[in-house]
Amino acid sequence: MTISRIAAILSMTLSLTVAANVAFAQGDAAAGEKLFKKKCASCHFFDSSGKKRVGPNLYGVVGRQAGTSPHFPYSNDLKEAGFAWNPQRLDMFLTKPKAMFKRTRMTFVGLRKPSDRADVIAYLSTAK
Ligand code: HEC
Repeated sequence: MTISRIAAILSMTLSLTVAANVAFAQGDAAAGEKLFKKKCASCHFFDSSGKKRVGPNLYGVVGRQAGTSPHFPYSNDLKEAGFAWNPQRLDMFLTKPKAMFKRTRMTFVGLRKPSDRADVIAYLSTAK
């Protein structure tokens, strides 16, 4: 492969990444908060208390290593994920949790609408 071909692929990847980030940045955090209360809050706290419900506390989850909220009994799939959550990965997980992690303990069907996922991710990104 020539250098210019590699450069072309790299710049394409970069612009795709930028485009994806722009799409997520357009999520509406206020709408996401409402959705979170309706669809996620029964299982997840989102505050700095560190308290958990059936699911781990999600405060600061964006940028956090997957499966590492203290004292939460994660599935092996989450424990062994080996990555930090970013908007792209959250989008994939929230689309259909079991498609990303077959044995996840998160018994939630997923958010079908891309804009709903963008809104919730925008809300999750508001943690200080
Ligand atoms: C029925 C309960 C339940 C609902 C509803 C639910 N979750 Fe979860 N969630 C869990 C459980 C349990 C886990 C731990 C999964 C595991 O260990 O496999 C989890 C894990 C997660 C994780 C990974 C956290 C980490 O520390 O790695 C994210 C992100 C997440 N949930 C987001 C959401 C969002 C956003 C919603 C709403 C759209 C939601 N969840 C709805 C139970 C739930």
